[in-house]
Amino acid sequence: MALAWQDGKKAESDGSESPELSGSSADEIRMSTRAAELIEARGDEAIRAHCLRVATWSSELASAIGLSESDRNLVERAAIAHHVPGILLDDQARRRLLAEMHLEVKGEPFVSNDVRAVLETLWGRRPIADPAMGKIVAVLEISDDFDQFFESEPLFDADWLDECTNSSVEAMMTYLQVTSRADVTRVIDRLPVFPRAAREVVRQVANPDVGPREMEAVASADPVLAGRLIQTANSAYYSPRQPIGTIFHAVSYIGTETARRVLLAAALRGNFSTPQAHQLWNHSLEVAQAAELVAMHASVKVDPSQAFLAGLIHDIGRLAFAIMPAAFQERFQRLTDGGCPPAEVEMCLSGRCHGEVGAEALAQWKFPPEIIEAVRWHHRPERSSLPLSSLLYLAEFVSESQEDLPSYVRMNAATRLTGISMGSLAEIRRTNPGSLESLRFVA
Ligand SMILES: [Fe+2]
Ligand SMILES: [Fe+2]
Ligand SMILES: [Fe+2]
Repeated sequence: MALAWQDGKKAESDGSESPELSGSSADEIRMSTRAAELIEARGDEAIRAHCLRVATWSSELASAIGLSESDRNLVERAAIAHHVPGILLDDQARRRLLAEMHLEVKGEPFVSNDVRAVLETLWGRRPIADPAMGKIVAVLEISDDFDQFFESEPLFDADWLDECTNSSVEAMMTYLQVTSRADVTRVIDRLPVFPRAAREVVRQVANPDVGPREMEAVASADPVLAGRLIQTANSAYYSPRQPIGTIFHAVSYIGTETARRVLLAAALRGNFSTPQAHQLWNHSLEVAQAAELVAMHASVKVDPSQAFLAGLIHDIGRLAFAIMPAAFQERFQRLTDGGCPPAEVEMCLSGRCHGEVGAEALAQWKFPPEIIEAVRWHHRPERSSLPLSSLLYLAEFVSESQEDLPSYVRMNAATRLTGISMGSLAEIRRTNPGSLESLRFVA
């Protein structure tokens, strides 16, 4: 059982693969729940999310180094409580404080004695009692540091980060990494080849100067593309008075821009054909739409059709992670179920995130360099001066994908680089869902 947080209540995830916590009495669980509720009551959503991630990383690390189930349970409960104010752990001080405030003193301590022992050891208020306690505290410390490293990453200069060796990151990856960077490259090579014909469609249609006649020519060469255009034009969304039977009529009726989007989406759809990729494809359509809208509202000049294309393929790297071996999938699932963001989990388990992996696949398929760079940095836009990278980051935000840790620093930098206001972003976020109707036939 891994602790998870749902709708403000601590719950037990039902993943049968999750490490089982044991040796915990109902009292202990109740007390650590109270600690988590206390943090929540402070209204600090970010700390609450951080504590839950640290609990998830701790549980996985404890399991990887072979701690007993009861120690794993203890470190997880201590992680949930590790931002509880110190004064509340000291029962006497808490009672004095409440009495001074003329508040009723309820008998129970906020955390159990064993959790308090871990936290006081972590904070250096008591010596390490025995080797087992040493390991528990080390697991908690590494997990806390590891999560904070990713939280603070956008604040640091990229060159400094590349050189800096963070011992907690190294320790975490030593135990949790299940695949090497070279293995990931081999998996990219196993992705289905992006067909030359589809590549040609993307190359021609992504050009903003292409008009209805050229689109007709592109669609005429491929019955699937032609069918998608005609289906879209005859859909309830466009409801023509007379059925539309020719490609040219369809392009004229739905407009060149919609036709461009339908053709791009239809050409790329084949790469997301497995049942597992269906959800990812719908997310890609949503991000493409959002990216196009952000481009239209941005003061920096980015071609909306290029933004749409970049959005369609921004997460192509996730297809590579989806075909990783079972050891990767199981660990990835446990960590993401526990609230750790996919981009960070990928980094920990393989040394690379899906942005980097996607860029490598797109380079092999000879996509334009700006699209490759934007996809590479779409979760770390501060590393790229290209507005399209920031624009994809903002499109992920609009689609509420939660693939990385929320970052005010990154948001601020991305909105500044693209020249879009938070107000416009909020408006796009409010109106974007449902606007996929015109692309229904490629969903
Ligand atoms: Fe922390
Ligand atoms: Fe995404
Ligand atoms: Fe992503």
